[in-house]
Amino acid sequence: MIHIENLTKCYGEQTVLCDLNLHIAPGEFAFLQGRSGSGKSTLLKLLYREEEQYGGTIKIDSILISEMSKHELRRKMGIIFQSFELLERKTVLENVALAGEVFGKGWADIESDVYRLLQRVGLNGKEHHFPHQLSGGEQQRVAIVRALLNKPKLILADEPTGNLDTETAFDVLHLLKELHVEEGIAMLVVTHSEQLMQAFPAKTWVMEDGRVHESARV
Ligand SMILES: Nc1ncnc2c1ncn2[C@@H]1O[C@H](COP(=O)(O)OP(=O)(O)O)[C@@H](O)[C@H]1O
Ligand SMILES: [Mg+2]
Repeated sequence: MIHIENLTKCYGEQTVLCDLNLHIAPGEFAFLQGRSGSGKSTLLKLLYREEEQYGGTIKIDSILISEMSKHELRRKMGIIFQSFELLERKTVLENVALAGEVFGKGWADIESDVYRLLQRVGLNGKEHHFPHQLSGGEQQRVAIVRALLNKPKLILADEPTGNLDTETAFDVLHLLKELHVEEGIAMLVVTHSEQLMQAFPAKTWVMEDGRVHESARV
């Protein structure tokens, strides 16, 4: 699913990623941990091409991401952020629908998919709410629905529980794990939380000195 070889990324004089190798198989769930500033968000940004200058190769589905259009690349993946990144002046339905409209999906399909997915994550009845009318955990579930709308085979999540209390963080991770099992979606989840990694044992990559290595803990 993801095949990264000899990845190097510098910001000016600073080398953030240095000869990094990482493989994630189709349908695999993995955590990515590492101290603040170690380059986790940078790695994810390179994967979804928010950052485009780097050395080495990144393949998704055996294709170099530099050889696909950004549109094609983003269609393959759902992305989830710590800060949810919902548009404040749009309703839940509109926020999620945008992700389908970008890829030319028809409104009838979008609407039925959004209703079905909101039901799946326990948010039925909230379609016409605005983000500020939802709790943090509910907002993150809306972001998860948005990430699922285009039926991705890969979800990248950058500290998806970083803004949530412990219990809500647990619920959100439980949901991601269920979706991973039900839909066979590969997931790379950045987290700091030892508690979560212990509660949901999975392969864990540790970012250190510009590289990742597999944690011996699991
Ligand atoms: N756009 C940028 N320009 C310059 N330096 C950056 C930029 N983004 C991140 N960095 C630097 O790269 C390092 C890694 O950052 P980041 O990937 O955000 O780490 P993490 O997500 O692990 O906390 C940090 O030292 C950060 O200051
Ligand atoms: Mg980060």
